[in-house]
Amino acid sequence: MSKTIAVIVGSLSVKSINRRFAQALIKLAPADVAFEFVEIGDLPLYNYDDDANQAASVKRVKAQIQAADGVLVVTPEYNRSIPAALKNVIDHASRPYGDNTWNNKVGAIIGTSPGGVATALAQNHLRAILSAQGTILMQGPDAFVQFTEGLVTEQGTIGEKSHAYLQGWLNKFLAWVETNAAKA
Ligand code: FNR
Repeated sequence: MSKTIAVIVGSLSVKSINRRFAQALIKLAPADVAFEFVEIGDLPLYNYDDDANQAASVKRVKAQIQAADGVLVVTPEYNRSIPAALKNVIDHASRPYGDNTWNNKVGAIIGTSPGGVATALAQNHLRAILSAQGTILMQGPDAFVQFTEGLVTEQGTIGEKSHAYLQGWLNKFLAWVETNAAKA
């Protein structure tokens, strides 16, 4: 069955390794899955004073997440947690009260970092945050992906060493969406 997946990259950098990784990862999916990257760099800082009058960029992001069958969050780890830009979009899309876009949304989290523990701590925080919002997150397998030479090839594909694991991970995510999106 064809699906649409909203992809949120937690980094705003034009050089983001997580964006490159996300672009390579989605190439492992079958052709009937459409991936839509959600731009989060143009969102204002969340302020509940604006809840009744959300910015056009906020409405766009909420609509993109709402329309998707699933959400894939690909995040770096900044100072042992998630980047502020990612927390910002989570806060925006959780409001106004009673219109929480994350509730019952099916999703998964992944991310990469050159560090030894990769993005494990950021992912743990993110799991707690999104679970509290009611997001139906894939519970495992974890993918704390270390960004080493060859993870993403010059052609922008996933390198040979990580290919099998990440293919399995993505297949499980798409199956998770298939099973749970209908119930959500
Ligand atoms: C980092 N980096 C980092 N890496 C890590 O594994 N754990 C961490 O806590 C941090 N902390 C951190 C803070 C800040 C402010 C920056 C800018 C970077 C390094 C980080 O993994 C590396 O810069 C990646 O390139 C970030 O991913 P993107 O933004 O390129 O996708």
